[in-house]
Amino acid sequence: QQDGALAGKSVLVTAGPTHEPLDPVRYLANRSSGKQGYAVAAALADLGAKVTLVSGPTMLRPPAGVTFVACETACQMLACVKAAAPFDAAVCTAAVADWRPEVQAGQKIKKTGRDDVPAPIRLVPNPDILAEISAQGPQRPALVVGFAAETEKVVEHASAKRQRKGCDWIVANDVSAGTGVMGGDNNQVILITAQGNERWPHMPKEDVAQRLASRMADWFAEF
Ligand code: C5P
Repeated sequence: QQDGALAGKSVLVTAGPTHEPLDPVRYLANRSSGKQGYAVAAALADLGAKVTLVSGPTMLRPPAGVTFVACETACQMLACVKAAAPFDAAVCTAAVADWRPEVQAGQKIKKTGRDDVPAPIRLVPNPDILAEISAQGPQRPALVVGFAAETEKVVEHASAKRQRKGCDWIVANDVSAGTGVMGGDNNQVILITAQGNERWPHMPKEDVAQRLASRMADWFAEF
């Protein structure tokens, strides 16, 4: 893929987990290192795209040459995405928490005795950022890509997710125990489009990112 293949294209990447506070010291979250998303942002920028990386809390340094927007919760992530829209393309790699505690305590919830049982935590659904971005409308990016981490029936579940969320492509990966994908440096993915499924070889997350960026550039070249 030649340099500048995505020049002039604005691309959103969401990455990392979201943290949903219970109180000032505790939160609910999904496991996510942010590695795959940051690698996607870097690969798109390498092809000349104007990349906005909206990220939940991670230990990573933002890649050079991208506009970095830090957020914490799913609601904040959605607000940051909306504030930076519109985009020509979007790649949602974030592991957004599906639910958040209904109430966020203003002070640390105290343990008063050794046998204390905490009050049940009521959860309410978070916005689905990928589904909102994919919704038809004048601001919809021309190409919307989601990721799907699955632990079984990977293609079946990920294909259903592509339809349900209304995105164009899904990059599906098997994160079941023993694959080492979660938090690891390698990934093994299946690209699911309206045209079919393509299994890519086991490779470093950077290579998955470069291959995806290059596929996106090809798509825009034909679009
Ligand atoms: O968590 P789930 O398997 O539904 O995630 C699939 C895709 O949807 C991922 O691309 C993820 O970034 C996105 N997603 C989102 N907002 C949510 C849940 C998931 O953008 N609340």
